[in-house]
Amino acid sequence: MREKLARLREEALARLGAVSGQAELEELRVKYLGKKGEITAILREMGRLPAEERPAMGQLANDVRAAIESGIAAAKTKVEAAALEARLKSEALDVTVPGREVTVGKRHPMYVALDEMKEIFIGMGFTVLDGPEVELAELNFDRLNAEEGHPSRDWSDTFYFDRDSRVMLRSQTSPMQVRAMDSMELPIRIIAPGRVYRKDEVDATHSPMFHQVEGMVIDKGVTMADLKGTLNTVVEKLYGAGTKTRFRPHHFPFTEPSCEVDVQCHKCGGAGCPTCKGEGWIELLGAGMIHPHVLEMAGIDPEVWSGWAFGFGLERTAMRRFMIDDLRLIFENDVRFLRQF
Ligand code: PHE
Repeated sequence: MREKLARLREEALARLGAVSGQAELEELRVKYLGKKGEITAILREMGRLPAEERPAMGQLANDVRAAIESGIAAAKTKVEAAALEARLKSEALDVTVPGREVTVGKRHPMYVALDEMKEIFIGMGFTVLDGPEVELAELNFDRLNAEEGHPSRDWSDTFYFDRDSRVMLRSQTSPMQVRAMDSMELPIRIIAPGRVYRKDEVDATHSPMFHQVEGMVIDKGVTMADLKGTLNTVVEKLYGAGTKTRFRPHHFPFTEPSCEVDVQCHKCGGAGCPTCKGEGWIELLGAGMIHPHVLEMAGIDPEVWSGWAFGFGLERTAMRRFMIDDLRLIFENDVRFLRQF
């Protein structure tokens, strides 16, 4: 038995010394020290020994167990250190590897122009509204005085969703006038930027999708002079002091009187060039005093309240602001173009 114990100790310590991983270590622990392990088996045989030999043999068996236990503890420390080492190695950051380049984006020139415009209007006490691009013809046309049969309602100009021509992609941001009148307390000062859609062929000045910025003021005693003053202020803030505007009479069903507003051509300064088609002026927006019937349809008494509205073409505003001469560049998103701003 003495020999058996000596062999067991030798074998166990040798195997523990060469242990390669946590699983193997656990296996060895069970094999030697477990309830059905080898030490237990030997201790069980002690019963067969003469009584006087038992104490010495018991002592020896305990020594062997203690030796194996400390062998296991040492192996455990070694295995854990190796595992930690391996993990550190696999998770190591090589700080000498060149980093990945981060490309920083920029705001699109059209949104830069829009932000400038918003800031100007917010500074004058306007609220910015957002509205649906899928709109009811009732709001896009009827409530804006463009009744059944009006040429702008034609299928050749407008994207409808249904045969009855009741739901459409809005062709202007002006239905936001109606939405504001229906939902807000008077007096009202709003702008409403957003996309609009018309069946236009793409060229240097047209796109079937473009952006407008609607504006509207309703208050007591509001006149065309306020409209002119406001728009001149905005144009000078956007394009620089002294930039001239021109108000031309026009017609819109929902304003009376109506006008179109031009700014001096940025390319030629008014002399006439290809960009302004020889006119010296570039059309920027439509505007006018809100038609009394439009106010009435919204339940607003035109004898008490008056107002004006305008609709900027946002692309044109940005083109004038950044000297861009082809509308298509705004939507193509070619980085060589975008990088210039
Ligand atoms: N909605 C008009 C258009 O698209 C512009 C406009 C807006 C005119 C508000 C007058 C008042 O042409």
